[in-house]
Amino acid sequence: MPRSEIFVTTKLRNSDQQDPHGAFDASLERLGLDYVDLYLIHWPVPTRGHAVTAWRGLIEILGTPQCKSIGVSNFEIAHLNELLRETGVVPTVNQIELHPVHQRRELREFCAQHDIVVESWGPLSQGKTDLLERPQLQAMAAEHGKSVAQIVLRWHVQHGLVVIPKSSRPARLAENLAVFDFELSGEQMAEIDAMDEQRRLGLNPFTHE
Ligand SMILES: NC(=O)c1ccc[n+]([C@@H]2O[C@H](COP(=O)([O-])OP(=O)(O)OC[C@H]3O[C@@H](n4cnc5c(N)ncnc54)[C@H](OP(=O)(O)O)[C@@H]3O)[C@@H](O)[C@H]2O)c1
Repeated sequence: MPRSEIFVTTKLRNSDQQDPHGAFDASLERLGLDYVDLYLIHWPVPTRGHAVTAWRGLIEILGTPQCKSIGVSNFEIAHLNELLRETGVVPTVNQIELHPVHQRRELREFCAQHDIVVESWGPLSQGKTDLLERPQLQAMAAEHGKSVAQIVLRWHVQHGLVVIPKSSRPARLAENLAVFDFELSGEQMAEIDAMDEQRRLGLNPFTHE
């Protein structure tokens, strides 16, 4: 497969925020690649206060042929505002925890206003909720001849989100890709929109170090 058909994302670790250049070079070395498509700051870590330094480093890295685009992960509105205020450079992507029980409407709206692509991590709620067993979603799956996971992934796609489900099983990898040949109705989208419990399953970006 040509390298140009693979999109590789990697992230700057929290412990490396003061040395983004060294960390980036080490990542490329470990990956055995000439370039990455997207380089992200993994967490804002406001308790240590190095995110802007890290972001300035990523801006410099973006100016090299080794990096095609830069973004952030787990950044809330306050963290994004700080980067914008201090550097004026808008992240291409914000990769955040996002699934039907944690829909992040306000943050998505902010990102839309600033042309930041939102990428959903934990899109199936990481197997930590009853999402895939819900009768409402099972009924939609039966109607479309799809699995519940596909219904949830399609909900992300129809909201314009970039969705990155993880599976260790080849059959599920194929299943998770097969979501572009059907469409949820407006009513079905609204039903899933109504499942938001603003329930975060992962770490809190304001406190995570
Ligand atoms: N930026 C961040 O801080 C951050 C944090 C967490 C995760 N992520 C990234 O987000 C990506 C996905 O998130 P995630 O793995 O945390 O959560 P996820 O994709 O919501 O859930 C993965 C779980 O769902 C199962 N699964 C996958 N496809 C399925 C299907 N079709 N039907 C039923 N079960 C299915 C998987 O089991 P099997 O493997 O057994 O199929 C696995 O247990 C990963 O690539 C990860 O790197 C980023």
